[in-house]
Amino acid sequence: MSVRDQETGNELRIFSQTERNRWHPIERSIWARDSGVAQDDAALSIVRTLLDQPRWVEPRFLYDERGSQLFEKVCSLPEYYLTRTEDAILEKEAGRIIDVAPVECVVELGAGFSKKTARLLKEQARQRGRSTFAPIDVSLTALAGSRDAVEGQFPEIDFSGLYARYEEGISSIEKDIPTLFAFLGSSVGNFDQLSFARFFHLLGTSMGPNDFLLLGVDRIKEVEILEKAYSDSQGVTAEFILNIFTNINRIVGTDFDLDKMQYYSWYNPQWQQMEIYAIATSDQEIHLPSLGSAFVWKKGERILVEISRKFEPEQLQQQLQFFGFKPMEHFTDSKQWFSLLLFEKASQKVD
Ligand SMILES: C[S@@+](CC[C@H](N)C(=O)[O-])C[C@H]1O[C@@H](n2cnc3c(N)ncnc32)[C@H](O)[C@@H]1O
Repeated sequence: MSVRDQETGNELRIFSQTERNRWHPIERSIWARDSGVAQDDAALSIVRTLLDQPRWVEPRFLYDERGSQLFEKVCSLPEYYLTRTEDAILEKEAGRIIDVAPVECVVELGAGFSKKTARLLKEQARQRGRSTFAPIDVSLTALAGSRDAVEGQFPEIDFSGLYARYEEGISSIEKDIPTLFAFLGSSVGNFDQLSFARFFHLLGTSMGPNDFLLLGVDRIKEVEILEKAYSDSQGVTAEFILNIFTNINRIVGTDFDLDKMQYYSWYNPQWQQMEIYAIATSDQEIHLPSLGSAFVWKKGERILVEISRKFEPEQLQQQLQFFGFKPMEHFTDSKQWFSLLLFEKASQKVD
């Protein structure tokens, strides 16, 4: 059975031949992979990291419906300079980016509601006409929001949302269609060193010879500015981060009590990263029903929820060359707080 768009009946070209039959529609213009994000053993992954020392959780579990909406609120906070700074760079440079990256398709990794990406899509529609936009995200709420916005704004753009983790989406994309992979919002900062290398190795080997990568990175700057961005005066960031435990309770059946924990974040200068934790405010037993077991989360003990690494763009450009990405352009803002880095696939181009 081939994968077809329900409305047009056209075969979906974004998937590679070998992967095409593994995807099925789950709602209008949104696709999931068999044994993909909906079926992966999320509960087991969570239990494994909760029992690790020190304890941690994967940030992908931040984005349940409420988490995705709270993250949207974070993006408009005055302290959270990242979104508006990146958006301003995109507003100024989208024309140039699309001009130097002649593609037929934009694939966005961890797209969220794709609000900033609209700047690229507008240029893509203007310069190239009929094109495809394929966001990949583990949040169905965000994908549906992105679909409704893109369909309303850009009739020339065919939307195909992939409800999937990065790896599942990336390895299913057709190599023969010239594609711009966009990875915005400083999401690259959420990877630790190992996940970073695995991610870029997979992306580098999955990209076709006429593909490009646009990477949004937050830069190293004064500690005060960084720490304020993750500790807003209204407490929205804390609400967003601690909401992960409501989602974890739902997935795993644990009994985390949000009234017995507090939010804590700090900039670790040695690792050049923001570290974001939940700290237990009293000793508490956390039950793991699937194992018929429990652990004690001790007063003062931290669970790492997310890191957000900060980068020197030139160093990052150098590092990504090891994975086959050739730096093309570097766009930044007047304060040099955020950078958009454009790369092409380093191998010989096919004309
Ligand atoms: C920090 S938000 C960025 C959203 C948007 N790109 C922006 O710049 O505002 C991260 C997004 O990536 C998604 N995400 C997180 N981990 C993911 C994973 N492992 N695979 C796919 N999507 C993921 C989340 O659901 C969320 O929408």
